[in-house]
Amino acid sequence: MSDPNKIFKLAIDPHFGTKAIHAGQNPDKWTFRNVIPPISMTTTFKQIAPAKHYGFEYGRSGNPSRSVLQECIAALEDAKYCLTYSSGLGATTAVAHLLKSGDHVLAGDDMYGGTNRYFSKVASKFGITMTLVDFTKDVNMEKMILPETKLVWMESPTNPCLRVIDLEKISNLIHKIRKDIIILVDNTFLTSYFQKPLTLGADLVLYSCSKYLNGHSDVIMGAVVTNRSDLYEDLAFNQNSLGIIPSPFDCFLVNRGLKTLHVRMKEHQKNGLAVAQFLEQHPLVEKTLHPGLPSHPQHNIALRQFSGFSGMVSFYIKGGLKEATKFLQSIKIFCLAESLGGYESLADHPALMTHASVPENERAFLGITDNLIRLSVGLESEQDLIADLDQALKASVN
Ligand SMILES: Cc1ncc(COP(=O)(O)O)c(C=O)c1O
Repeated sequence: MSDPNKIFKLAIDPHFGTKAIHAGQNPDKWTFRNVIPPISMTTTFKQIAPAKHYGFEYGRSGNPSRSVLQECIAALEDAKYCLTYSSGLGATTAVAHLLKSGDHVLAGDDMYGGTNRYFSKVASKFGITMTLVDFTKDVNMEKMILPETKLVWMESPTNPCLRVIDLEKISNLIHKIRKDIIILVDNTFLTSYFQKPLTLGADLVLYSCSKYLNGHSDVIMGAVVTNRSDLYEDLAFNQNSLGIIPSPFDCFLVNRGLKTLHVRMKEHQKNGLAVAQFLEQHPLVEKTLHPGLPSHPQHNIALRQFSGFSGMVSFYIKGGLKEATKFLQSIKIFCLAESLGGYESLADHPALMTHASVPENERAFLGITDNLIRLSVGLESEQDLIADLDQALKASVN
């Protein structure tokens, strides 16, 4: 593949690195002019007079470490607002609480298993219904959008099959039918460095910060970003009322992780592409899924909509569960573990691990078979990663 920076229609924000390092971090806001924002480990804040304070009163309602982080994430998305939550699923819960009993959600069928589980097993108890649809196909939107549809949930690229949804096309179609439908995009796999859903028609962008945004696999956190003040007000109310807040220490860590997001994503892209190209020509691999491969069904949408690729690669190993298991027990640099987006390379067996909560018939329909393996390609040396995959593939047939 030619230079990844030259193949995309959309340019990377040339100021991204400056925003990541400076947005929300002004030392002048601290008494001692801390260059690095302090961790505000306090549950409460002294008031000058009853209900008169310096912007913070109680740690659940707000905390300076959280504000610093939220300002930085919003700036990276060129958005007005960001709210962070105790996990990506906490962020999902806060969004679901924008709805009421009887409301309907139209969601992409190939999405994170935990999101599917939340809507089908938890939100359903409160009268919220969900229909799953493959947004990469020609969908009859007039038929799919019900009078009670309030939220459309898209994850792109999807987890784990890395399908790419034409976000602008779908958002336009939906908003043409009904302007009041909230469109949410889970942008966890690409981050704001490589894709900006708010510019493509989304009202909300959701992140599992546990992945690339933090990038160090040591924090569980979620975020929602928006330009809409009405949604921001409701989400902020939910953040406090539901109590699903991140700790000040975790906010400090994610804020620190963001400082190298642009540097890490470039390297994830390079290693991810190298791994995808290696796997695609390997005789023990049935099929490789990566939007950067010309063989990917939505390759052209990716080139138009993204400004880069992350380190996510999925592939079908030749054989079945036996070969997949042998491969996953033979990797040495890649680690068999759930999650993604950290500096270390991970391998996942979606059917038995991250997507085990998706019903078996849905998994089969989506292509989450026993020989599907998802890789989060990290920042180790490219040739070592490829050598590791090669020896594990060979071991899968021994
Ligand atoms: C795409 C995506 N969205 C949301 C989540 C949920 O995030 P968290 O694990 O931080 O709750 C995950 C977790 O794997 C994910 O992969």
